[in-house]
Amino acid sequence: MEERIDVPEAEIAVHWQEEKYYYPPTKFITQANLTDEEVYERFSLDKFPECFNEYAGLLDWYKHWERTLDTADAPFWGWYVGGRINASYNCVDRHLAKNKNKTAIHFVPELESEATQHITYQELYVRVSEFAALLRDFCGLKAGDRATLHMPMVPELPIAMLACARLGVIHSQVFSGFSGRACADRIVDSGSRVLITMDGYYRNGAIQDQKEKADIAAEEAAKGGHSVEKVLIWQRYPGKYLSAKPAVHGRDHIVNDLLKGYRGRRAEPVPMPAEAPLFLMYTSGTTGKPKGCQHSTGGYLAYVAGTSKYIQDIHPEDVYWCMADIGWITGHSYIVYGPLALGASTVIYEGVPTYPDAGRPWRIAEELDVNIFHTSPTAIRALRRAGPDEPNNYDYHFKHMTTVGEPIEPEVWRWYHNVVGKGEAVIVDTWWQTENGGFLCSTVPALGPMKPGSAGPGVPGIHPVIYDEDGNEIPRGSGRAGNICIRNPWPGIFQTIWGDPDRFVAQYYARYCKDQNSKDWRDWPYFAGDGAVQAPDGYYRILGRIDDVINVAGHRLGTKEIESAALTVPEVAEAAVVPVADEIKGKVPDLYVALKPGFEPSPELHKRISDAVVTEISPIARPAHVWIVPDMPKTRSGKIMRRVLAAISSGQEAGDVSTLANPEVVDELRHMVAV
Ligand code: WTA
Repeated sequence: MEERIDVPEAEIAVHWQEEKYYYPPTKFITQANLTDEEVYERFSLDKFPECFNEYAGLLDWYKHWERTLDTADAPFWGWYVGGRINASYNCVDRHLAKNKNKTAIHFVPELESEATQHITYQELYVRVSEFAALLRDFCGLKAGDRATLHMPMVPELPIAMLACARLGVIHSQVFSGFSGRACADRIVDSGSRVLITMDGYYRNGAIQDQKEKADIAAEEAAKGGHSVEKVLIWQRYPGKYLSAKPAVHGRDHIVNDLLKGYRGRRAEPVPMPAEAPLFLMYTSGTTGKPKGCQHSTGGYLAYVAGTSKYIQDIHPEDVYWCMADIGWITGHSYIVYGPLALGASTVIYEGVPTYPDAGRPWRIAEELDVNIFHTSPTAIRALRRAGPDEPNNYDYHFKHMTTVGEPIEPEVWRWYHNVVGKGEAVIVDTWWQTENGGFLCSTVPALGPMKPGSAGPGVPGIHPVIYDEDGNEIPRGSGRAGNICIRNPWPGIFQTIWGDPDRFVAQYYARYCKDQNSKDWRDWPYFAGDGAVQAPDGYYRILGRIDDVINVAGHRLGTKEIESAALTVPEVAEAAVVPVADEIKGKVPDLYVALKPGFEPSPELHKRISDAVVTEISPIARPAHVWIVPDMPKTRSGKIMRRVLAAISSGQEAGDVSTLANPEVVDELRHMVAV
């Protein structure tokens, strides 16, 4: 019976109604970058890996690569080996000759009373070069060093990223909403001696103090034996200091003041090996410790440039707005690196989509004449609830829209299509992960019809397969779900987990590898950790994580991380987190805790446990409920049955629980949660 309760979600058969197709409008097709039906043939497995030379060809190289794919150290793939390239040069300098006066970044501050800033490629070049010179000469940073960034959604964030990339410094941007402690863990793990932050920024109409988190981060890192030598603080409004915390003498430096000494200074881009790491992006996995996904320079940039061109359909004259946060992989790939590599104009919006009202995104779209829009189902659901008819009030026209990060309900998809897109825009539902660099599944917008709720087939060059628990392929159209994997490597795939290569192999490649000594990529399918089903037409529907990851409003959090945070409260003996469905956020965490003997539940304790999660991680991880329970449902071997807790939280049947060590607790908890 224990086994039945433990059946992996991905094996549970799923049946859902097939949705009807929507076809891309002719107006879109006639202008699209990719209309060639042969593309799937060109990127077939027979043409692998050389097919991906086409993506690398979109970039400028100092030295051409010698081998497209090196598998000698499988599954640590080497892409474009022997090549030399600089990401900052490709996103900035190479556009100057023809487009120096063009807007690279439109920055929209959250306050509507504040003017939008339009930063040209020339200005971006000057600001990136000066800041790179500062990082090199004032901080002593050089190729291979790491720098942690904890920046909000402001142009100084891509400027800092591109300045690092210019020197070959590996940047590690931590989502600004993460707490100082969460930032500290990432500083220590990456070994960063420099932290780049901002004094404050606007969110929901109020200034957030960001610099106070830097103090906590530096203190916590010091407790772990790691010294943050320099904290560079940008000012949101140069000359005005927004933080309540003073600059720490000798450690903290105001960037705007320092930059005065770097006027006119230029740091030349350093030609980096294609395989040099470009950045780390920490993400949640099955253990409490976040892992630093290490992305390469040449392979990553080629992949995001290729997919930005063909899947996002970015043309030089487009105004492209991705409303994600640059602190997540979507922002790295599809706000910064992809669009800028193609010389597009990319929009950065500081604040929340519904501030001050649900018309805000559509006013921004109208003002800037945005024609490509990119967001998450959570944002779409929130905008739909707050202002279902708002888009009709504004005169903007999207040719292309993206949804990313979570499964989208067909009904929500249709609102996005009919109302936001005014029936004129093509939609791509893009499935991928922090580890992947860029899209894995999506329709090619001018080629495949759209199907609400389905991501579509693998994008050109990506060959997915669904395996059952025993490694048998689950055929398309069987109605059975399984573990989605990718048969082949691709240039955007991460290189390793920073400092933990064994975990990299164990978690992503060992599951279905038949020969761990093999140097043949065919033996190393990439295990994504998502359940999926493939419809008869070949489209994939992604069902969600099969591991201990919970996707809250598109933010990826580890249940173990939230549990560890709860355990920092001295009274807490045990903690278990389960996902519960939420109308807007997709999923929210419910936290169950059992107290150590002698302690009693109280409202004060509830609050302290909930606050601990915010302090350790972020407000985005705050539990929907904290249930202080007399006991956890457990197997006879003492394992907490999270699946039973999830059923209780969702008001569903828990199945046969008679084999639990303490079946009586189930009714008790059910009663507690129901009232
Ligand atoms: C989920 C975000 C359904 C999935 C780019 C994946 C999706 C996790 C989709 C990665 C989609 C992402 N449809 N589910 N279109 N896109 N996911 O690392 O569970 O923040 O494993 O990367 O989000 O989240 P991450």
